[in-house]
Amino acid sequence: MAAIVIASRNEHKVEEIRKLLAGLAVDVLSLGDYPDAPEIDEDGATFQANALKKARVISQFTGLVALADDSGLEVDSLDGKPGVWSARFAGESASDAENNRKLLRCMADVPPGERKAQFRCVIALVSPKGAERLVEGICSGVIVEEERGSGGFGYDPLFLVPHLGKTFAELSTEEKNRISHRGKALQQVLPIVREWLEHGLI
Ligand code: IMP
Repeated sequence: MAAIVIASRNEHKVEEIRKLLAGLAVDVLSLGDYPDAPEIDEDGATFQANALKKARVISQFTGLVALADDSGLEVDSLDGKPGVWSARFAGESASDAENNRKLLRCMADVPPGERKAQFRCVIALVSPKGAERLVEGICSGVIVEEERGSGGFGYDPLFLVPHLGKTFAELSTEEKNRISHRGKALQQVLPIVREWLEHGLI
């Protein structure tokens, strides 16, 4: 059967993508199936650059179509920071709690009406035959002044979805996936995989 490889060791992400592609005649592998795959430095200036770099390296290494994502939080009053630095905002191996504390500190003087932010997710699909596609999903919200909720990960407890009146950390996984940046980007992957299957690119 045709196969595609997810350039991630994060089983949670891999499961989400497996669910999305269930029903298509394609095997979904991950870096868990390739323990010797190279580590990739996410040193690009944009989400696009990082996602493309990961997908290109893993497609070349495996000889398969590779899917890679990169995502993060962009805060308007911080000129789009932390952006590609989201995971490392408070330092190279910072914890979620440290990153969240730093975000609140940086925004201590930002009034309620000016706390807009967005999560952005870019997904790259690269085929060893040279085809490349990029898709993007955005979810807009507001950074609250103290953490709310215990679900999710990363900046979830600080990211309020105004029309729901809840932070990402107060939503169930299903509710979050329906509206999240990653969910929106993933929805656009399905037609591309179908198209590439039809054209023999996978
Ligand atoms: P990555 O794309 O998985 O490398 O994510 C980069 C970083 O962005 C994460 O470590 C989080 O800090 C942040 N991030 C990305 N997506 C989310 C999300 O859905 N909720 C909370 N934080 C996120």
